[in-house]
Amino acid sequence: MYKIKLLILSMILVTTLHAKVDTTTGLIIDEGISDIKEHCTICHTGRFIVVNGGKRAFWEGKIIAMQDGFGLWDLTNEQKDRILNYLTKNYSK
Ligand code: HEC
Repeated sequence: MYKIKLLILSMILVTTLHAKVDTTTGLIIDEGISDIKEHCTICHTGRFIVVNGGKRAFWEGKIIAMQDGFGLWDLTNEQKDRILNYLTKNYSK
């Protein structure tokens, strides 16, 4: 009986942990992910974000690099803020 309870408990744990990750991008579901989907994972998968990580300045540098080299369009300050908040909170490393 104890083993069954443990099994059920671990299954619940696995599903809840899993639900926190967006299935299309592989990114953590949190405030700002819609901006990430609109402005980042349009060109590439979330993998580039997952394997990277750093403080706000790091991600700010990545946004500039995307704009300078790869054709990321201009972002409003609000969009940039939401993207940076999201990245710094979830992928700070
Ligand atoms: C217009 C297309 C485009 C958009 C939009 C875009 N990227 Fe990229 N990004 C690229 C390309 C192309 C590469 C691959 C560069 C390479 O092969 O080194 C890349 C690579 C990356 C990398 C890995 C390379 C590195 O310099 O570390 C990161 C991190 C990254 N992008 C983050 C972002 C983030 C964050 C956003 C949203 C703010 C974003 N990208 C939006 C085109 C884009």
